[in-house]
Amino acid sequence: MLALDADADGNVVVCRDGEMADGERRLFTVGRRRIGVFRVDGRYVALHGGCPHAGGALCAGPLTGTTLPAEPYTYEYGREGKVLRCAWHGIEFDVQTGVSLVDPKMRARTYPVAVDDGAVVVNVRGRAPVVAA
Ligand code: FES
Repeated sequence: MLALDADADGNVVVCRDGEMADGERRLFTVGRRRIGVFRVDGRYVALHGGCPHAGGALCAGPLTGTTLPAEPYTYEYGREGKVLRCAWHGIEFDVQTGVSLVDPKMRARTYPVAVDDGAVVVNVRGRAPVVAA
């Protein structure tokens, strides 16, 4: 895991735009804070590395899909690459919003990410706007 420094405004350069493909992640620390940056559908999202359930390694878990609501005795799989499953107890989160799929009141902190002059920059002081799952 990379140990990075933030500037005076809380901005951290994580990588260059284009270094990450969809589905890839970068895990880093800023001080004691763990953060994961993911690229999903060509956009970057940043989540706090500590899971809101019990502080586990949320961003180390698989980026996967999940079973969708379906008729009884049928199974439908979807949302491939958009569900982050916590490495500790397996609670699933929408990687783009940080919202838990089983309990919408449980939400991982998300940080604003911008591409600035070709660099992927996370603001570790900010909070990404809450958007619908
Ligand atoms: S700590 Fe993440 S699911 Fe329990």
